[in-house]
Amino acid sequence: MSYLSMSREAALGLREKETVRILSLETSCDETAAAVVENGRKILGNVVFSQIDLHELYGGVVPEIASRAHMEACGRVVGKALEEAGAALGEIDALAVTKGPGLVGALLTGVNYMKGLAFAAGKPLVGVNHIEGHVSANYLSHPELEPPFLCLVVSGGHSHLVEVCGYGEYRLIGRTADDAAGEAFDKAARVLGLPYPGGPRMDALAEEGDPEAFPLPRPKTAEEYGYSFSGLKTAFINLVHGMEMKGAALPKADLAASFRRAVCSQLIETAEKALLAAPGFRKQDSGLRGEGTAASAPAGGASGSGENAGAVAFALAGGVSANRELRRMAAEMCARLGVALYMPEIPLCTDNGAMIGSAAYYRLMRGEVAGLELNAMPALRLV
Ligand code: KG4
Ligand code: ZN
Repeated sequence: MSYLSMSREAALGLREKETVRILSLETSCDETAAAVVENGRKILGNVVFSQIDLHELYGGVVPEIASRAHMEACGRVVGKALEEAGAALGEIDALAVTKGPGLVGALLTGVNYMKGLAFAAGKPLVGVNHIEGHVSANYLSHPELEPPFLCLVVSGGHSHLVEVCGYGEYRLIGRTADDAAGEAFDKAARVLGLPYPGGPRMDALAEEGDPEAFPLPRPKTAEEYGYSFSGLKTAFINLVHGMEMKGAALPKADLAASFRRAVCSQLIETAEKALLAAPGFRKQDSGLRGEGTAASAPAGGASGSGENAGAVAFALAGGVSANRELRRMAAEMCARLGVALYMPEIPLCTDNGAMIGSAAYYRLMRGEVAGLELNAMPALRLV
């Protein structure tokens, strides 16, 4: 029997199994990350090896260095994830790996490593879309969350607003016309002389600054639910250069706060417009959930009936969803609209292996397994 036929048969059998454990690996950019996840919802082991130190000197990710570092780290990180989970490879039901999008060399390292391991162990392998992984981080932080919901995916390479219609089913609502939100944060950080990766550092600095200090453009795009960050970035660069030419000390905290406000308000205003236009939208009782805690949001107009039909939920995903201002603005908006809010816990916002294991579970249950021809797909899209 071929490896693929064996995998298909095994996947069918797993549908009947009470607990399905997946060992997953993520190597699409500069984190070598592995995890063991049970039934797509429970993390048994989660290990992230960051390569930041290796790339900091160059001010960004050097693809060649990333691939080599992944090659060296894969075995160690996978071993540690299994150890943390207290599981032997034989007790794992299936393997999963990020197939794209990302850096081709980095992806290839992970894909080939997991193909080898899956074949040798005789286990089915699932190839996972990295962006779907980010969306699925919410299933780990909020075991009660189920589609449908509206999701703002904001990472270093992607800014999408999607409707999650079902597991693995997406409808594009809007996307960035140019830069991704994380990319914009990283470029603005560089202008302020902050080291790589700039996003988290801009965020920390902005906490000390005045977000209204400098007016920055809030661009309109041709698409109703589209984003654009390149004009904002240019305006920010010109503002900073103008100050430098005058020899003035840069008010870095105020600059960072103003930039962060401009990015986040564009993202949240667009999401609000989409939520208000969603067919199921109406004000109602809602839960406000973030960082693993639940808190009550104000009840809306149609509350009190106790029925939940037509509920609209909103989720954040991707590295930029760790941004403090974005989380605050999302919480404020959802409380005002009476919409349930879901955000991954901070460590699950940025790249990790657990989110890949969660996404893989729902694919595996649909019988979607990969053959040994699985390849890296650097430009893979979600929708
Ligand atoms: O999702 P992610 O880890 O990798 C990609 O799939 O791209 O996202 C990384 C991006 C980087 O651009 C990083 O600067 C940004 O997310 N990021 C942040 C914050 N934490 C990470 N941006 C703004 N504020 C943060 N707190
Ligand atoms: Zn990512």
